[in-house]
Amino acid sequence: VSPPPLLQFTLRDGTPIALRPIVPADRDRLLEGFEHLSETSRRLRFLGSVTSLSEAQLDYLTSTDGIDHVAWGTLDLSAPDAPGFGVGRWIRLGPESRIAEFSLTVLDDVQGHGIGQLLLATLAVIAESLDVDVLRGYVGRENTRMVSWLQRLGASTQEEDTDLILDIPVPPDATTSSSAAEFVALMEEIHAAIREQRQGWDDEL
Ligand SMILES: CC(C)(COP(=O)(O)OP(=O)(O)OC[C@H]1O[C@@H](n2cnc3c(N)ncnc32)[C@H](O)[C@@H]1OP(=O)(O)O)[C@@H](O)C(=O)NCCC(=O)NCCS
Repeated sequence: VSPPPLLQFTLRDGTPIALRPIVPADRDRLLEGFEHLSETSRRLRFLGSVTSLSEAQLDYLTSTDGIDHVAWGTLDLSAPDAPGFGVGRWIRLGPESRIAEFSLTVLDDVQGHGIGQLLLATLAVIAESLDVDVLRGYVGRENTRMVSWLQRLGASTQEEDTDLILDIPVPPDATTSSSAAEFVALMEEIHAAIREQRQGWDDEL
């Protein structure tokens, strides 16, 4: 089995950041991150008042299979033992479905620095390689920033009670907006980084 890739990037503000798939050993890290999350961010992420994560939820959130349940986390390379900056995941709607529901969480202190974009673009690259062509987000109506961002990426919008269902095509159409063009360019960069990483392992074998 290949070791999980550790992809390294630099955020727009120069902060070095690494990404890798979530593994069961990330349980404590995930819990610590959740405990650092503001009430508002918890509500926007879980669409309800979630004040703690149960053992069963932690099991679920860390038991990815890389095919139907994919989750990647970011690491702060200057503080490798810290919970990291955020997590993105998608879960296929059903066996062999080409639609997967995604979620994103970035810690409050580091929101607005491009981490969410990097996570979502990584999710999209993995989705593309696993025959998922729609990433579906359930987003609270009050989360206007998230809604307008996903719409800039070309998401279609349906209403469901108090939430919106936003379906992003994978890959987004780069001609939709400058955000979509930037996103697609980032996907290409991530794709190249994964390829390079895999090549490195093959050379070592
Ligand atoms: C939503 C969330 C994941 C975004 O992550 P982030 O790292 O803050 O986002 P980024 O810095 O990558 O920016 C993503 C987009 O939002 C825009 N954005 C960032 N900060 C913004 C702000 N304060 N106001 C408006 N737009 C903003 C960016 O411009 C970018 O859009 P663009 O690419 O078209 O320019 C993060 O804020 C979060 O965890 N929120 C709480 C949980 C949540 O709402 N999850 C989503 C439901 S699953």
